[in-house]
Amino acid sequence: MDEDDELCLCFHVTRRKVIQYIRVNRPTLPSQLSECYGAGTGCGWCRPFLKRLIEETDPQDVELPDVATYAANRREYRNKTT
Ligand code: FES
Repeated sequence: MDEDDELCLCFHVTRRKVIQYIRVNRPTLPSQLSECYGAGTGCGWCRPFLKRLIEETDPQDVELPDVATYAANRREYRNKTT
């Protein structure tokens, strides 16, 4: 996943926006990223990934799936939860 790919697909929040928010605001919980354009407040799929970015010293070091895999896994997640 590149910097300009959407990490929160529900609210179209890019990985770059999330990382910038983390660097500036130093959140300790994924729920605090709701102030970053609503990231994590929709289906919930991205919350574990948001948590990983928060917990990493340098959030840019976190390996995330490629865009197609990420979106496909989210569709599967949503099909199970709705
Ligand atoms: S992908 Fe972020 S809340 Fe649905």
